[in-house]
Amino acid sequence: MLDDKFMGRWRQVFGDSVLDFDSGQGDEARMLRAKGIRVTEFEPYPCALRPTCPTRTESAWSCVSRPGRLFPAAGISSGAGLMQDRTFHGFASTFDSHVREQLPWYELASAAMGLIARKYIPKGGKVYDLGASTGNVGRVLAPVLEARSATLTALDDCPDMIAAYAASGRAVVADMTRFAYKPFDTAVAFLALMFLAVPARRKLLARLR
Ligand SMILES: C[S@@+](CC[C@H](N)C(=O)[O-])C[C@H]1O[C@@H](n2cnc3c(N)ncnc32)[C@H](O)[C@@H]1O
Repeated sequence: MLDDKFMGRWRQVFGDSVLDFDSGQGDEARMLRAKGIRVTEFEPYPCALRPTCPTRTESAWSCVSRPGRLFPAAGISSGAGLMQDRTFHGFASTFDSHVREQLPWYELASAAMGLIARKYIPKGGKVYDLGASTGNVGRVLAPVLEARSATLTALDDCPDMIAAYAASGRAVVADMTRFAYKPFDTAVAFLALMFLAVPARRKLLARLR
């Protein structure tokens, strides 16, 4: 993907040093580092929630995550390796305030997601929300779902999130990579794919097409 021609253009535009905000599992950072780019990652979700992030350093992500304060219920006190559970378990009650604090563009990006998604939701349409958390996507899409008598199925593999789900549609505890999808018109994965490893993302997107 990052061939020499592409990287030549990259360097011309972006230089050799990158700040990667919301770096997820660090896959893009790893790919860029392999091409000699210096990457500093910032990820508000604790590294320990994602056992597959060997590149992350405590100093980089703790700048923005302050885990002790933001994730008290998850029992995280410092860096990688302390937490076995990679899910958002214990985090549902603070998720909505946390995400707004950590991602200043959250509302703006959510509104943009809504404007894009509405183009693809027909009358009587079937919509999936992958990695739904407490229902942000369902809330943003509620007017269009209602106006078009469309139905939403919200998936999250964290039972706490589904218990706290407060939006339109049916919320289901399910792993988005294994779910038996029925035919649908639109699937939204908003701030969710970065929690899957790149091969799992590719496989999922191929299945959804
Ligand atoms: C940053 S939150 C998503 C935010 C949400 N879409 C919104 O608009 O606020 C990521 C969510 O994806 C869920 N998640 C991560 N991996 C998942 C998987 N394989 N299947 C289903 N949900 C997953 C997490 O439990 C978490 O609730």
